[in-house]
Amino acid sequence: MTVPGHVEVRDGNLAIAGHDCVDLAEEFGTPLYVTSADRVRENYRRIRDAVEAEYGGGVRVHYACKANTNLSVLRILEKEGGHIDAVSLGEVESALRAGFSPDRILYTGTAVSTEEMEGVVARGATVNVDSMDGLERLAEAGGEGFSVRINPEVGAGHHDHCITGGPDSKFGVWEDDAVEAYKTGKELGLEPVGIHMHIGSGILDADRFVPAVEKMMEVAGRVADEADVEFEFIDIGGGVGIPYRPGETPLDVEDFAEKVVTAFDDGLEEHSLGKPALAMEPGRYLVADTTLLLTRVSTVKETPFHTFAGVDAGFNTLLRPAMYGSYHHVFNASNPDGEVGEYGVAGPVCESGDLLARDREIPEIRRGDTLAVRDAGAYGFAMASRYNSRPLPAEVLIAGEPRLMRERESLDDLFERQV
Ligand code: LLP
Repeated sequence: MTVPGHVEVRDGNLAIAGHDCVDLAEEFGTPLYVTSADRVRENYRRIRDAVEAEYGGGVRVHYACKANTNLSVLRILEKEGGHIDAVSLGEVESALRAGFSPDRILYTGTAVSTEEMEGVVARGATVNVDSMDGLERLAEAGGEGFSVRINPEVGAGHHDHCITGGPDSKFGVWEDDAVEAYKTGKELGLEPVGIHMHIGSGILDADRFVPAVEKMMEVAGRVADEADVEFEFIDIGGGVGIPYRPGETPLDVEDFAEKVVTAFDDGLEEHSLGKPALAMEPGRYLVADTTLLLTRVSTVKETPFHTFAGVDAGFNTLLRPAMYGSYHHVFNASNPDGEVGEYGVAGPVCESGDLLARDREIPEIRRGDTLAVRDAGAYGFAMASRYNSRPLPAEVLIAGEPRLMRERESLDDLFERQV
């Protein structure tokens, strides 16, 4: 689970981007999210280059910024020439503050309020509607271009909560209603610019994307034909997974690009769709493995059944293990070569579900050790909360010398908005 040059053992301690995790924990305190800027760039370039090498038209990589909206992370991707997938007014505003021009932002909200629609339109982002009445409200808000999120009847994902296509999903306009949606949009005076889908998250098998892309192209073809629409972009969504567990095979991006672009190109040809931009929306793939969550061991507790390492990060800091049963690899950064034992890694939240890892083999853990939780860059800080009245943690970016990109909250911050 180490990655040479990124996360590796140096002089007996774990390091990220060449910086010792124990020193980082000492300097900035814990719990602490630490992100490597280089790794964000590498991930972005790897997937963009693979898709560009296959597709002859334009490629737009919309970073699904719900994964991590820190402005410093957004700025890296802005400089790389990326685009944004935003789901809320806050995300649109974050992207703008990070320097993205409105034409690089696609807003895909769900259950969108009228106020939010107005805010997004006022900021100039393109709206991807999720329902028929969304079109009316977009027109009322003074919107111009539009895209429609289609439910292509196909879904996939690492957990039921993360499957966003198919019969049980709340998202999108059912594919049978697509033509009607575009006709309605045009009648309302809106200009169709794109079509979109997103089938789910955490998909490691490129073959899962192919039937969805095929379906999408068929729907796009019908819309082009029957509603007389020419697409500027066709967006195949995000969902590209990463190997969280040791032994899991990473997605082969070249293979992914080859399969997906072949289905895309074949669809364009078969349905006479011209050469629109191929848009995609990776979130996790770009940022998950860029970040470690560092946490300090407060106590080691033996029961007749388990050994618990009690740490200062809980599901208030990293929700994924408690919410989805997700696996995050845990290193003992202070003792990477110690004798391996079996531990539960328990957070400070007063709930028994607050375990970052269960029955996990980890080199000997001692009070005061620094543990590093891997792959915490996506849906980590973004899903953190103040539950149990614990202030939010700090975030550090390594781009040269490590620097805070978000200060740790103080106790006072907990009371700031209470009246
Ligand atoms: N595009 C749309 C429209 C989405 O709804 C999402 C994720 C993405 C792109 C990016 O998906 P990704 O490439 O990151 O899989 N909190 C969950 C993930 C929820 C994702 C929701 N939508 C987790 O921690 O696994």
